[in-house]
Amino acid sequence: MTTACAPGKIILLGEHAVVYGRPALAVPVRQVRACARVDPAESGSAGGVLLVSPDLALSSWLADMSGDHPLAAIALATLAALAAASFPPIQVTISSSIPVASGLGSSAAVSVAVARALNEHFGGSLGDDRISALAFGVETIHHGTPSGIDNTVVAFDRPVFFRRGESPEPLSIGGKFHFLIGDTGITAPTAEAVGKVRRRWQADPAALETAFDGIAGLVLDARQALVLGDVARLGADLRRNHALLKRLDVSSKELDRLVEAADAAGALGAKMSGGGMGGNMIALVAAERRQPVAEALRQAGAVAVLQTEVGP
Ligand code: MEV
Repeated sequence: MTTACAPGKIILLGEHAVVYGRPALAVPVRQVRACARVDPAESGSAGGVLLVSPDLALSSWLADMSGDHPLAAIALATLAALAAASFPPIQVTISSSIPVASGLGSSAAVSVAVARALNEHFGGSLGDDRISALAFGVETIHHGTPSGIDNTVVAFDRPVFFRRGESPEPLSIGGKFHFLIGDTGITAPTAEAVGKVRRRWQADPAALETAFDGIAGLVLDARQALVLGDVARLGADLRRNHALLKRLDVSSKELDRLVEAADAAGALGAKMSGGGMGGNMIALVAAERRQPVAEALRQAGAVAVLQTEVGP
């Protein structure tokens, strides 16, 4: 039996603009994770892979699935990378505590966990960069033009400064930053939000490029704030990033309500995180304000509130 897991993630700043070549900052969220376990299958023939996901009510042989199915796609791509063909049949069981379609990197984490578990089962030598690339291939099925930030932060499992097409830069963090993650409970596939921004960009490229440049400036400032351990400065950057995301029309009234509730309860800054139109928001809070801000988020409609820290 082999088990491998991968964390969730939040984008601190830069979502959407990152699809258009601007930088972004993301950190893993280890409070939630996806795991995959490989066992010998009880039946089946050589080379058979039984994919089981109780969460999706799925139990199906890989050979019977469409190659577009994200679980089939990551299994096929990983088996090809490992040149694994004729082996005793296996069962791959997937479980995840990461809410789906909510900006926490669920799809990337599932792909990374499956690829890693197969790599370990077959004694492969696929490193984090290769695993990340395999997961990226599957992300293109979820939404045609992913930047690659989700699979990168999840596969490398560390804070990253990311720019599309470049190696991720590890971030040096100069202090402790406490975040609350508030879930609107509304699922919103990333593909829809990315498609919406794409249509707006096609209709008015100049306006969107200006917004993306504004976001890029905030990302650079926030990287500096993280290096210096400057929580107030990072909070201000988050707040401004949310305003620009509203201009892209990817926030929602539920997300805005949570962001406003966090601000009113004393957060240093708050914004939606990930694709938006639902899903999660993040709030940067002083350690002693965690409880009251979490309570304010719940009262404003958050169905779940996670706490996470980013530190040296
Ligand atoms: C999704 O977590 C982040 C987006 O910027 C899409 C992407 O970067 O691929 C919305």
